Amino acid sequence: MKKTFLLILVLLTALVPVKADEGMWLPLLISSRIDDMQAKGFRLTAEDIYSVNKASLKDAVVRFGGGCTGEVVSPDGLLFTNHHCGYGQIQEHSTVEHDYLKDGFWAMSKEEELPNPGLTVSFLQSMEDVTDRVLKGYVPSMTNGQRDSLVQANSRIITDAINNQAKGIRSSVEGLYYANQYFLFVYKIYSDVRLVGAPPSSIGKFGGDTDNWMWPRHTGDFSIFRIYADKNNEPAEYSKDNVPYKPKRYFTISRKGVKEGDFTMVYGTPGTTKEYVTSDEVRYTGEVSDPEKIALRTMRLDIQKKYMSQDQAVRIQYSSKNASVSNAWKKWQGEAKGLARRKTVESKMDYEDRFRKWAENNQYKGLLEQISSLYERRNPYFRAQEYYNETVSTIELLTFASRVHSALKDGRPVETVADAFYKDYYQPIDEETFVAMMGAFDKQLSSAFKPAYHTQKLAQYGSLEAWRNDLFARSIFTDKDKVLSLTKEDLPKIETDPAYEMYNAYNQWYRKELQPTVSRLGQEINLANRRYMKAQMEFQPDKTFYPDANRTLRVSYGQVAGYNPSDAISYSPISTLKGIIEKDNPDIFDYNIPQTLRDIYAEGGHDDQPVCFLATNHTSGGNSGSPVLNADGELIGINFDRVWEGTMSDLAFDPEFCRNISLDIRYLLFVVEKIGHAQWLLDEMTFAD
Ligand code: ARG
Ligand code: ASP
Repeated sequence: MKKTFLLILVLLTALVPVKADEGMWLPLLISSRIDDMQAKGFRLTAEDIYSVNKASLKDAVVRFGGGCTGEVVSPDGLLFTNHHCGYGQIQEHSTVEHDYLKDGFWAMSKEEELPNPGLTVSFLQSMEDVTDRVLKGYVPSMTNGQRDSLVQANSRIITDAINNQAKGIRSSVEGLYYANQYFLFVYKIYSDVRLVGAPPSSIGKFGGDTDNWMWPRHTGDFSIFRIYADKNNEPAEYSKDNVPYKPKRYFTISRKGVKEGDFTMVYGTPGTTKEYVTSDEVRYTGEVSDPEKIALRTMRLDIQKKYMSQDQAVRIQYSSKNASVSNAWKKWQGEAKGLARRKTVESKMDYEDRFRKWAENNQYKGLLEQISSLYERRNPYFRAQEYYNETVSTIELLTFASRVHSALKDGRPVETVADAFYKDYYQPIDEETFVAMMGAFDKQLSSAFKPAYHTQKLAQYGSLEAWRNDLFARSIFTDKDKVLSLTKEDLPKIETDPAYEMYNAYNQWYRKELQPTVSRLGQEINLANRRYMKAQMEFQPDKTFYPDANRTLRVSYGQVAGYNPSDAISYSPISTLKGIIEKDNPDIFDYNIPQTLRDIYAEGGHDDQPVCFLATNHTSGGNSGSPVLNADGELIGINFDRVWEGTMSDLAFDPEFCRNISLDIRYLLFVVEKIGHAQWLLDEMTFAD
């Protein structure tokens, strides 16, 4: 009897659906989570994750470039991140003759590694709660403006004492929980970061935009860099005399593999989440902003794709631009759907009803009404701003004209700007984009939200096509030689060029008519949200709140797990090389694998080669390239994506649908060895087994 009962209990626990773990925790405060982490299988301590007294895991994690994460994996500063994070650098070094995007790149010695001016990696040195220092002198009778000035001045005192104290040291004070608390972050920034290896895109971007944001996934999304330092191991600009950086800590790599239920931890720098906003924000995002931006980007993508498929040179030129347009386009689709599926607006409204009742007799009475009315006033202006960003600003000739203008004005060389622009510019795409985007701008905005210049030009030309023809025929910015011959004396001439004139007319309107209102109301919304955040913490005193993502270092933890995207479909969490071969198709660009990979597979024995895995970690944009660690803090994967049904997690986390997608580190090792033949890189890594 007892036995059957136990058996049933065991069966029942096995059947309980996995609950994903919401939360992006500050490493400094991880001790508040460590019991839960250990209960779920983690075998290290809070000190192992974050410490300022001894080397800890944080010392092997970097903020990579503008928007990604990376991890150090060798005593010689070797660094892993995603292929899509190093994409810009790989593309930068590519030409039709040496197409590293297409064929991959493998340095066979340190001498062959390629420098990337402008690329930096930042190590977090320390973080600290400085709320008391930042709010020193604050009295409740202060206006919001006075409080802001005080916060700025106090933060300045703190950061000035740290910045540039030593080479590459930068600090910033960040408001967390809508600036109810302030934290100081000190970084050490290295600026000589060289490209070491990248698989061909047919591996690193396998599945392309077709599989992006989706499971099952088979993308070998990694690239390899190396950090260089001066002779004292300190940050320095690129120099051939620099030497490989010696890290305080690097990750040991586990080849033991993962299975369903295994503990996972992601350590990285998620960008932006808005988990505590009201239904007003969610409604605007899911019902207005996402659908409208999706429609605009669909048009741009169609235009780009048409020309890219006709010409290999154009494909290279627009590959990076196209990927970034497409990436958000697809994410917004999943997000809008996910918000609707889980009825986020309705459930936020329920919550708000309960909150309102609670606030009936306290200082927060009327707060939600105030927030709603702020959104109502902001939204039309914000929408026009989003239209401007997704239409007028996407016409490349216009933004180029403005960049040349400011370069000349500031006395910077025009060549740098011009070379970068023309290398990746294809005028027919821009011309067609002009007509499509200006058409949408014209049609979708009421006349109160269009500049006079717009109406006047359309009347003058009679059609968008005629306007475009004249603009592209008369502007000097379509002609590289003419642009290169420009000097400061030509500034007045540039100002009457039709491309610059157009850029300037819309930009002035944007700055005068939209920007001030959007930023004033945006600030008021932030202030109201600061109170709302504080109020929510008082309303739910037993809940542990994690601060919204803001590019600072965070820990999220969970477990390897599949999910059910819809009725009768169940996804298992591990993909293999067999799946790549199933998808392989020489006629489909996104699924055309290199012949070498086919040959390796044909040798046999590689069916079960793991490629990617799913887990329940709460991640966001910016977590790409993050190390995924096992219960012992060893590297088991590189995070690179989320599943489509879960992309609303930036606004609302749903444990049933939210999964992060990681590259299995064993696939990276497989590709480095068998495709890259770069044994020398494997030799400098440390393996757990
Ligand atoms: N969706 C992932 C992220 O947001 C990967 C994007 C890069 N890949 C692509 N096919 N566009 O960054
Ligand atoms: N792919 C994203 C990134 O680049 C990660 C995500 O949004 O899940 O950071």
